[in-house]
Amino acid sequence: MSHQSPTQGSPSAPANPRPRTVDAVSKLFFVILGILAVVAGVGMGIWNPFLSGAASVQGTDIDILFGVALGVSTAIFVIVEGTLVYSVVRFSRAPGDESDGPPIRGNTTLEVIWTAIPAAIVVFLAIYSYQILAKIDKLQPDALNVEVRAMQYAWQFYYPDAGITSNELHMPLNRQVHLKLRSNDVIHSFWVPKFRMKKDVLPDRVTETLLTATDLGTYPIVCAELCGASHALMRANLVVQSAADYENWLAGQTAAKLQPAATSGASPDAVAQGKQLFAQSGCGGCHALGDANAAGQVGPSLDGAGTLAATTVPGQSAEEYIRTSIVKPAEYVVTGYQPIMPGAYGTTLSEAELNALTQYLLAQK
Ligand code: CUA
Repeated sequence: MSHQSPTQGSPSAPANPRPRTVDAVSKLFFVILGILAVVAGVGMGIWNPFLSGAASVQGTDIDILFGVALGVSTAIFVIVEGTLVYSVVRFSRAPGDESDGPPIRGNTTLEVIWTAIPAAIVVFLAIYSYQILAKIDKLQPDALNVEVRAMQYAWQFYYPDAGITSNELHMPLNRQVHLKLRSNDVIHSFWVPKFRMKKDVLPDRVTETLLTATDLGTYPIVCAELCGASHALMRANLVVQSAADYENWLAGQTAAKLQPAATSGASPDAVAQGKQLFAQSGCGGCHALGDANAAGQVGPSLDGAGTLAATTVPGQSAEEYIRTSIVKPAEYVVTGYQPIMPGAYGTTLSEAELNALTQYLLAQK
């Protein structure tokens, strides 16, 4: 304080027209403000306007927690802003009043209250969050195991019990799915907004999460960690099916996988298996191909690949060109695209699979 103010009531004190104690008007105002805060808090907590309904068991619990936090925050907002507006109106300087404001020192009671109440709220929210976390982290004995693999810029889903790989995450309704997530390269983040679930995917560690779908439908899976130039295109679909539909899908995938493919030459079987491989290997994450319902934009479109491949490199057959492009992606980079395609397909795909995929692309006229 740069100046010593006279004590209240001293003859030299300027007349202070402002109310110094809590009068009847203030009491009434704060009773009304308190009621308003409770009503607004409860209303906002139940309405929860920032989230549309979650489609998973875990998401529903998280939404309840979010609603409670939102309700508490709304009540605090109403009290703080209400008090501020009240003070501005009630205690504003009268025109022409150039006197100093009354000297105010600490108020122990107030300080205890405004420390104790927020502390109690934070402790309550921490305990409540822990309870919800413990609930949604409980592994069910009949959970379906799926291994998620993230790579720049695609998702792959491996079903270890069935031995199949898919570029869509299919799951049966109302059955818990236990995801184990790994990355081939950099840090990604597996996010299903409609399930309220986000988990980092790391190159040197396995992360896990649990999902239980409560609504049939197809929902976007989004990468939520800036992982490179085409991060924004790293998306996949999560398909929630009835138990019967899920079993049908699984049976279809398994049958396609068991189909023996010739190690060379074109056959309807090789082309069909190639189409399956195109989906399983996540090719559609980066390449567009109408026949495979793929819309990736990271790499060149593969529509008409069979025709284009025949004329791209003089003296090289279309088959050789396509095969080389899969095994050594940096060999022929289409103008306007980055040489970022993973180079591992030559080792991860068997000879028969490589042939099938080549024949499938060759058949795209
Ligand atoms: Cu993967 Cu962003």
